[in-house]
Amino acid sequence: MLVVALGEENTEKVNAETVTGDQILSFDNLIFGVPTWFDGELPNYWDEFVPELEDMTLKGKRIAVFGNGDQKNYPENFADGIGIMADLLENRGARIVGFTSAKGYDFESSKALRGDEFAGLALDFENQPRQNKERIGKWAEQLKKEFV
Ligand SMILES: Cc1cc2nc3c(=O)[nH]c(=O)nc-3n(C[C@H](O)[C@H](O)[C@H](O)COP(=O)(O)O)c2cc1C
Repeated sequence: MLVVALGEENTEKVNAETVTGDQILSFDNLIFGVPTWFDGELPNYWDEFVPELEDMTLKGKRIAVFGNGDQKNYPENFADGIGIMADLLENRGARIVGFTSAKGYDFESSKALRGDEFAGLALDFENQPRQNKERIGKWAEQLKKEFV
């Protein structure tokens, strides 16, 4: 859905389970998909990539992060993966783009929060599936402006 909204001709899909550092470095604008698992943790495939990420220099990269979460069953860790990844990327020099309002979600705490915004786009397929299309469409338009 996101790729269609951004325009397929403008995007290249890379599998997060097999991505390499060199692949990441070959792009200036990136979108990371980071769902939250294990009560506020990254899924295994991202967790295993963290050591490599921590050795990378991402200065000059603009990176947007989206991620699935479940605000009803995990209200204390809603979409934490977005925040964990945004911190890691920012620490390596990347500029995080694609912040979104946390209004319209119902949760207790989230590492994705920066003030009253998420450091990316939180999607909840379990509890708010009908909002995804609009959220993704809006975010794609925002990214078209924030990516240069
Ligand atoms: C074992 C388990 C732990 C989860 N932990 C969290 C969590 O801490 N926070 C959250 O927002 N969602 C959590 N979720 C919900 C998932 O993020 C959600 O199901 C999401 O749609 C999974 O996305 P994926 O299929 O792209 O990996 C968890 C789901 C499972 C099964």
